[in-house]
Amino acid sequence: MLERLEQIRKTAETGLKNLQNMKDVENFRIKYLGKKGELTQVLRGLSQIPENERPAVGKLANEIRDYLEEQLQIIEKKIKKEEEEKKLKKEFIDVTLPGRRPVVGKKHPITRVLDEIKEIFIGLGFGIAEGPEVELDYYNFEALNLPPEHPARDMQDSFYITDKVLLRTHTSPVQIRVMEKMAPKLPIRIIAPGRVFRRDDDATHSPMFHQVEGLLIDRKVTFADLKGTLQAFVLQMFGESVRMRLRPSYFPFTEPSAEVDISCIICGGNGCRTCSHSGWLEILGSGLVHPKVLEMGGYNPEEVSGYAFGMGIERIAMLKYGIDDLRILFENDFRFLSQI
Ligand code: DAH
Repeated sequence: MLERLEQIRKTAETGLKNLQNMKDVENFRIKYLGKKGELTQVLRGLSQIPENERPAVGKLANEIRDYLEEQLQIIEKKIKKEEEEKKLKKEFIDVTLPGRRPVVGKKHPITRVLDEIKEIFIGLGFGIAEGPEVELDYYNFEALNLPPEHPARDMQDSFYITDKVLLRTHTSPVQIRVMEKMAPKLPIRIIAPGRVFRRDDDATHSPMFHQVEGLLIDRKVTFADLKGTLQAFVLQMFGESVRMRLRPSYFPFTEPSAEVDISCIICGGNGCRTCSHSGWLEILGSGLVHPKVLEMGGYNPEEVSGYAFGMGIERIAMLKYGIDDLRILFENDFRFLSQI
């Protein structure tokens, strides 16, 4: 039996030298020290060998076991350390490499123009109001002095949801909603930015676009107040060199009504393709709030008056940034957006 133990010791010692990785270590442990391992079996079978041989066999077997366990621990430590080092080498971080810049986003041109417009009117004492995008026919048309069958409804081809509900075609319904809420308090001084929807789709019209509405109601508001406010807006928005003119026009919800032009910001008023060689660009509609509209909003037209205006944001963004096709504003192509 002692001889067999010596044999085990010898093969185990060569085995130890060949251990390369943790898997080898594990297999070795099972082979010699595991439940059915060679040494374990000897120790288990001690009772079967003659009593006088037992102490010597037991002693040697224990010695070999202790020795192997000790060696295994040393080898295991070494392998673990090597594997750790290998891993570190693979994951080596070169701290001298230049960093990767994260892509910094930008505000969309529509948002930028909107922010600018808001800032100018807030500076003039206006507050911000909002209204729903899905609107009642009553607010979108009727209360704005556009009864059913009114021919001016044809100017705004609409998306109807039911007979009485539609996607708002302009931000003007917010005028009525704000008046209803405020009446009879004075003054009202708001702008209402938001999305509007029309059945239009070409290089200069999108079925969804943005407008900013303006409304001021107080005592003795005159056309001169409207003109002064718009002049202040145009100067801040487009610069000192830009001129403004009012042109008589018609809107059912204002009387009198005016369209506002600015001298062409591309050619300075000499005439070019953008201004159709007229030297002028139309930027908004405006007027004094129609007495019927004041009444619908809960105000007495004998006592109060007001002005209103509405402008398209995409149009202003196109002029400001020299964009000739409106649709690229909605394609979200980063190559375009990052040029602005
Ligand atoms: N709502 C009109 C449109 O979408 C624009 C407009 C014109 C608004 C005159 C106004 C206004 O408040 O007074 O075409």
